Amino acid sequence: MQESLLAYRRMRYLWAAGALAAAAILAYALHRPPEPPNGGTWLGYTLGGIAAALVLLLGAFSIRKRAYASTLGSVRGWLSAHVYLGLALLVVMTLHAGFQFGWNVHTLAYALACVVVASGIVGVWFYLRYPEQMSRNRAGETREQMLAELADLDRLCAKQAAALGGEFPDVIVSARDRAALGGSAWAILAGRDRSRVVLPGAHGGGHAQPNAGQSRLVDWLGHELAGSTDGERTRLIHELMALVNTRRGLLERLRRDAQIRGWLDAWLYVHVPATCALLAALAAHVLVVFLYW
Ligand code: HEM
Ligand code: HEM
Repeated sequence: MQESLLAYRRMRYLWAAGALAAAAILAYALHRPPEPPNGGTWLGYTLGGIAAALVLLLGAFSIRKRAYASTLGSVRGWLSAHVYLGLALLVVMTLHAGFQFGWNVHTLAYALACVVVASGIVGVWFYLRYPEQMSRNRAGETREQMLAELADLDRLCAKQAAALGGEFPDVIVSARDRAALGGSAWAILAGRDRSRVVLPGAHGGGHAQPNAGQSRLVDWLGHELAGSTDGERTRLIHELMALVNTRRGLLERLRRDAQIRGWLDAWLYVHVPATCALLAALAAHVLVVFLYW
């Protein structure tokens, strides 16, 4: 999906889209209509027709993407064409309109197309950037493996806390139960850690308090460690701290993984609805033009 998206088959679609845009610019430069250039001249209609065909073709990617049995080109080829033709559309539709804009449904269609193209550029940027970060963050593991590892660590922490006794089991259970992964869409995208923990006595008086990065828990363990005078107890707390630290790193990676996957999806929530709105505005534009011109 990555480099090959832009470099697919020696950039054949970059050349094709570039040729289309260049031909439109050349025709526009040579065009000498009796009135100022606009969508109503013969070139205006031609470019408008090409622009509308491009929009339909680009929108059809949604269908091709899901037509798993289709042999009509590869999905990767379609996506490469999609990206470059989407950029060519920007040129073609601007020349079609003859740079004439106003507060009307025509310019609404134009503006929506710009939103779709802009969100598409953001999407490509994410696609080029995030998959590599995602595999680095996963370090060869799948998300399921990371979650299984987390469950193992939770068990080991609980065991160690039980061996220590006193307030340890309750604290460890509360840190486990209140560790936040996920949450609202915004929390996921921002990678915010809303974990909490309930600490005893002077450390929190039984109230849940913010534990981002498990830092409150680590502080408390550090405090217990400093106060320990028994060699065996000190060793057990040390081991528990090591487990908690490993668990902290794992939670961090899981949160980052959700964040990356979130961003890889988020831009489509602009791209796709804006495409639907564009199709509607385009239909209205053509209807209005045929009714009133
Ligand atoms: C992506 C596709 C299209 C976009 C974004 C688009 C956008 C525009 C814009 C912004 C204008 C200038 C309106 C103004 O003067 O205020 C315009 C004019 C026009 N468009 Fe389109 N258009 C598209 C496709 C089409 C198609 C398919 C047709 C023909 C069926 C068409 C026919 C016209 C006509 C006749 C005008 C001239 C109206 C005038 O001069 O006042 N357009 N278009
Ligand atoms: C008016 C022009 C465009 C239209 C109508 C359009 C429409 C669409 C549609 C309907 C999808 C399928 C989404 C889905 O069903 O999941 C899509 C996907 C995509 N579009 Fe566009 N698009 C346009 C321009 C662009 C541009 C200019 C770029 C990049 C520069 C772009 C980048 C992408 C990418 C990367 C995907 C792949 C999403 C995926 O496979 O997960 N698009 N587009």
